Amino acid sequence: MLTVNVELADRSYPIFIGKELLEQPELLLPYIGKGKVLVVTNEVVAPLYLEKVQTALCSSGCDALVIPDGEQHKNLDTVIQIYDRLLAEKFDRSSTLIALGGGVVGDITGFAAATYQRGINFIQIPTTLLAQVDSSVGGKTGVNHPQGKNMIGAFYQPQCVLVDTSVLSTLPKREVKAGLAEVVKYGLINAADFFTWLEQHADGILQLDPELVSNVVKVCCEQKASIVAKDERESGVRALLNLGHTFGHAIETAMGYGTWLHGEAVAAGMVMAADLSMRMGWLDQSQALRIKSTLAKFGMPVAPPAAISTETYIDLMSSDKKAERGRIRFIVLRAIGEAFLQGDIDAEFVKQTLTAGDRLCLGDSA
Ligand SMILES: NC(=O)c1ccc[n+]([C@@H]2O[C@H](COP(=O)([O-])OP(=O)(O)OC[C@H]3O[C@@H](n4cnc5c(N)ncnc54)[C@H](O)[C@@H]3O)[C@@H](O)[C@H]2O)c1
Repeated sequence: MLTVNVELADRSYPIFIGKELLEQPELLLPYIGKGKVLVVTNEVVAPLYLEKVQTALCSSGCDALVIPDGEQHKNLDTVIQIYDRLLAEKFDRSSTLIALGGGVVGDITGFAAATYQRGINFIQIPTTLLAQVDSSVGGKTGVNHPQGKNMIGAFYQPQCVLVDTSVLSTLPKREVKAGLAEVVKYGLINAADFFTWLEQHADGILQLDPELVSNVVKVCCEQKASIVAKDERESGVRALLNLGHTFGHAIETAMGYGTWLHGEAVAAGMVMAADLSMRMGWLDQSQALRIKSTLAKFGMPVAPPAAISTETYIDLMSSDKKAERGRIRFIVLRAIGEAFLQGDIDAEFVKQTLTAGDRLCLGDSA
């Protein structure tokens, strides 16, 4: 087992990473409060892993709430379902919520934990690759609003994160690939060597080779832990973790939540960010094309859906959380492994990127 620590003074916590960790309840017991425990999971994950978690963690029995599956349920109605159960069962401030599932379950449960009685204990057991490498770490919790992704939320750190890589064996391939978008993102932000390693081991990673997957999760958690430790509430460097997300969130919202997976939208969004960086003269075309081909190698979309108009993109991106007074800010690239935040981008270049379709990163001469 590997342990990565997120260093945040009195809110520091460990991430335990390894195979069959759901069988090791002793890892989690010190992080569970004295009061009642509610495991929140969804209708897909519950039949696979809920019993195992309940047996392992809660010898005296712990309650579970099974919510509907899907990004379209990441909203306040589902949060209210959790509050209703907590209140009906008289959960108090010494209680613990455990999120067992992907990023959707983690984000919703974390927000409920942050806001129920002004904050109760919270543990993450992420079961998708995306949640294991990204969403379960760092304390961003929240839900969507019909007008925008993740518009309602709170920063709230878990007591610990338990990553059992064995659970990825049941994850559909499309979800594995979507998770790999966030993995590639870390290489692009500030880990050029990791990006090269990913290019070299793409086949084995896609086959979920256990050694390779453990390394992927470890490196990503280390990267995220280090960025979060420097900037917990995203007033600086943490914004870089949103590479591809300004375009990606617009795609997810415009297509209807759940139509494009979050990771798929981020993958196309990163190719759009590379294209924009190239048009601005910051990124070499050869590097932009390398980003596009690596994402394609991992089976991810490398062009946005044709159905979204430029006006829709601009409208949605102007209300992105990184926008300042309506001015869109983008995470762009100087090179693979060198991302930066830029608010001063020529609108004409943005329009060219938005209309490039499957000619992204090829430039005007192609
Ligand atoms: N909080 C953050 O910092 C952060 C970062 C990145 C993404 N996110 C959010 O994460 C969400 C996406 O998360 P996701 O990609 O995990 O999607 P998800 O939670 O919808 O899970 C994907 C699918 O896999 C199923 N599933 C989960 N684990 C499984 C398993 N082991 N075996 C079989 N099926 C399984 C789920 O039921 C679902 O159908 C988005 O809402 C995104 O906004 C949050």
